[in-house]
Formats: sequence, C-alpha cells, structure tokens
Amino acid sequence: MSDLYCVFGNPIAHSKSPAIHAAFAQQTGEDLRYEARLAAVDGFFAAISDFVAEGGCGANVTVPFKEDAYRRCDRLSDRAARAGAVNTLQFINGSVHGDNTDGAGLVRDIRVNLGRRLAGQRILLLGAGGASRGVIAPLLAENPAALVIANRSPDKAQQLAAAFADLAAGAVLTGGAFAELRDQQFDIVINATSASLSGDSLPLPAGIFAPGCLAYDMMYGKGETPFLALARTQGAAHCADGLGMLVEQAAEAFSLWRGKRPETAGVLASLRTALSAQG
Ligand code: ATR
Repeated sequence: MSDLYCVFGNPIAHSKSPAIHAAFAQQTGEDLRYEARLAAVDGFFAAISDFVAEGGCGANVTVPFKEDAYRRCDRLSDRAARAGAVNTLQFINGSVHGDNTDGAGLVRDIRVNLGRRLAGQRILLLGAGGASRGVIAPLLAENPAALVIANRSPDKAQQLAAAFADLAAGAVLTGGAFAELRDQQFDIVINATSASLSGDSLPLPAGIFAPGCLAYDMMYGKGETPFLALARTQGAAHCADGLGMLVEQAAEAFSLWRGKRPETAGVLASLRTALSAQG
C-alpha cells in the first residue's frame, strides 16, 4: 500500500496540491498517494483523527484550518510556533507534529526562482493577518535592512512588529498604517492581505516602489491580481504572483515527509501553463 497524504481545506476542490505532490512523487520515485480532503468548518479535529485512523502519514493544511492545526499539534517546529499557524503535519507514533513551510516557500521563490536577494533590502509587508505572520521570521532570517509591516488596522501591524522584535537582528522592524508609507521607498513589496479576494485595491501612497523594485503577491489567479495591477501602474519594475510560493512550500513539506527535495522548476512551469490556459 502506498503511503497516504492529503491536504485539508474548505473549500478544497480546486486545490493544486494533489497535482504538485503527484509530480514530486513521480520525479523522486516515492510511492505515495496524496488526496484533497474537505473538512467541515467545525470538524477539523475529527477529520484529523479519521485520517490518522486510516493510516495517513502526513497532511497539508490550508484555509481556514491553519490555526486549528496549530492548536491540534503535540509538537511544533520553531517556525510554526512563531507563525502561530501550521500548514504541514506529520503523524508519528500517535503524535501530531506541526511545521509551517509557507515562509520558507516565499523566501525560496524570491531568492532562487526570481533570483532576488533579500539581504540588505528594504522590504514592505502588506497585511497583518495569519499570512503575514507566517512569513515574518523567515524574512528576518535573510537579514534585510528593513522590514516594514503596513496594515489597514495599524495597531495589528504594530503588535506584529513588537512580537518579532527579538528576531530583527540588524533590521529596522516597524509596523503601522498605509499612510505612514508616504515618502518611503522599498526594494521588495509583498502583499499578504486578502484584499484582492473582495476585489478591493489597497490605498498605497504613490512612489513606494524603488527603482528595480519587485512587487510580490502571495495570491495568484488566472490573470493579474489587483495588487500587481496597481504595482505595475505605480512603476514596479518586476511583478510576481504566489504560484511559485505554493510550489516551494509544497516542496519543503515533501522534503520533510520523504527526506528528498524535489525539483520545482518543471512543476511550476506546468502549473503556469495550465493556469494561463484557463484564462
Ligand atoms: P490571512 O490568514 O489570509 O492573513 P486574515 O488573518 O483574515 O487572513 O488577515 C487578512 C489581512 O488582509 C489583514 O491584514 C486585513 O487587514 P485588517 O487587519 O485591517 O482586517 C487585510 N485586508 C483584508 N481585506 C482588506 C481590504 N479590503 N483592504 C485592506 N486590507 C485588507
């Protein structure tokens, strides 16, 4: 019997994770089965128990269960504890181990796939919810010159900056409102808000994109996201969506489970082609 893995979410029907992990398994010769599983919004813990009873070896966790998964774990990696959220589970001898590979996926996509360094850069992180919290520690570990967190509710951005102050090392780490970005410029601007889900555009002051700036949206879709459209019109030199992050966080989870790091470029290229064909 193949080792069993899955991704839990709600909704989950359109998840790309089964295709990504199937490609990784084929490429590395690993014998595993990976399914998409819908859990009831109030039924995540029961879904985990059922999956473990079925013999599940591990799982990914997506919206809206990452905080539930964090609470369910018997052991947490440092980065999951810091994120307050878990996207990767391993079931080991009846114990649930949690990790968070989102931040590592983001950093690897920016550094390796997009070829941009983060060290010494001025980085702006938009949003102060779970998605933002999950990537702060891995971003700070790259030694940026500054990490500025900006949010519609500025108090939440300030709280996040304070919560990660011990990891800032030499970086200037601050949190505040969008309006406070006026007269500031950034080398990398990352959108971790969910504004595009509601079709809203962010009230960003003009001029925040430094020459050569990379605008990165952790979201992705068929066409250009609202944030990337805004960034392009405001002069961002390079734009990237979160498809690469999706593939890289999956590769990080696969490595954890199977002890083999899959190659991602071909998988990302196929997903990109399929996504464009949908448009
Ligand atoms: P996630 O887990 O995706 O981060 P979340 O924890 O609900 O989801 O956080 C959503 C983030 O997107 C928050 O930073 C939120 O801003 P507030 O803290 O002010 O709510 C931000 N967001 C959502 N809709 C937005 C909008 N229309 N304009 C600006 N920011 C928005």
